[in-house]
Amino acid sequence: ASDAPVPGPVIDMLRPIPSRTPLMDVLRTGASYLAHWDPDAAANTVEANQRKAERMLARLPVVLAAGYRLQQGKEPAHPDKHRTLAGNLLWMLRRAEPSEGMVEALDVSLTVYAEHEYNASTFAARLVTSTMSDYHSAITAAIGALKGPLHGGANARVMDVLNSASQAANARDWVRQAIGEKRRIMGFGHRVYKHGDPRAIFLKPLCAALAEKTGNQRTEELAGAIEQVMREEKGLLPNVDWPSARLYHYLGLPADIFTPLFAVARVAGWSAHILEQAAHNRLIRPSGRYVGPAPRSWKPLSER
Ligand code: COA
Repeated sequence: ASDAPVPGPVIDMLRPIPSRTPLMDVLRTGASYLAHWDPDAAANTVEANQRKAERMLARLPVVLAAGYRLQQGKEPAHPDKHRTLAGNLLWMLRRAEPSEGMVEALDVSLTVYAEHEYNASTFAARLVTSTMSDYHSAITAAIGALKGPLHGGANARVMDVLNSASQAANARDWVRQAIGEKRRIMGFGHRVYKHGDPRAIFLKPLCAALAEKTGNQRTEELAGAIEQVMREEKGLLPNVDWPSARLYHYLGLPADIFTPLFAVARVAGWSAHILEQAAHNRLIRPSGRYVGPAPRSWKPLSER
């Protein structure tokens, strides 16, 4: 909490960013810009990286809330040191007193998102660190990797799935047709979890409870119907993004903020990996395997 206040120039830097800019891009710029105000920016010791990680964990949610408020033509809120990270974030975003249940739901979802082994964005953070580059560069690269719809960006697209299915005459037929057309249904499938994502199973009851409290039971029913068709037709199960998108929607947050919420949570995991990589470093440098035609003949320039 004591690290949460963001240097004034960082907030001022956010002001001229065009309001149509995706918040994930604003966050990426913010993470990079924070480096210029961090006294440890260039230091690569364990202690310096720990201090930078603590500051990033505290400040990135404030940058996110400020970017969001500015896009709405409103002044950013100052962090309240008496609130938890999740409570503060919700309060700064909505500027309305959240209920305990709402804070708990966000807190659990952020905890579930906090770390997940060698996913693409963590790998990006490790790769940048392996060149002996700095902490802020690694986090900025990780945010860029997380943004893609096959990774963290999927949670924002889950609402498109729910909206399209809800507008169709028959939601189940809509899913069947999408599968038939080989369209990817965001929030389903996982490279590692082929028998179900435990995070999705864990979040589901929390999501249902929040839906009940916020009058969103119909969306839960729709989600259940889509899950059933995906299981029957493709044998695919929900991943973490499927319930977390609904959970954020029930908290009254817009879809553009879903992936940035994932990012501010994952700072914990990225930071742990950056520290670990730096402590036992070896350059990560994959080799490519050439699979094109070989060998090829060529005419010297003088003969062409
Ligand atoms: N919707 C529809 N079909 C899907 C699918 C989805 N969400 N995920 C996988 N499939 C299908 C593929 O089309 C493919 O079908 P086919 O064998 O008939 O061609 C099959 O399942 C295997 O897909 P593949 O891309 O090889 O699996 P993967 O392990 O590489 O993919 C993901 C993992 C996460 C990239 C993939 O499941 C996906 O794109 N999911 C949607 C995005 C998402 O929710 N990402 C968040 C992950 S936490």
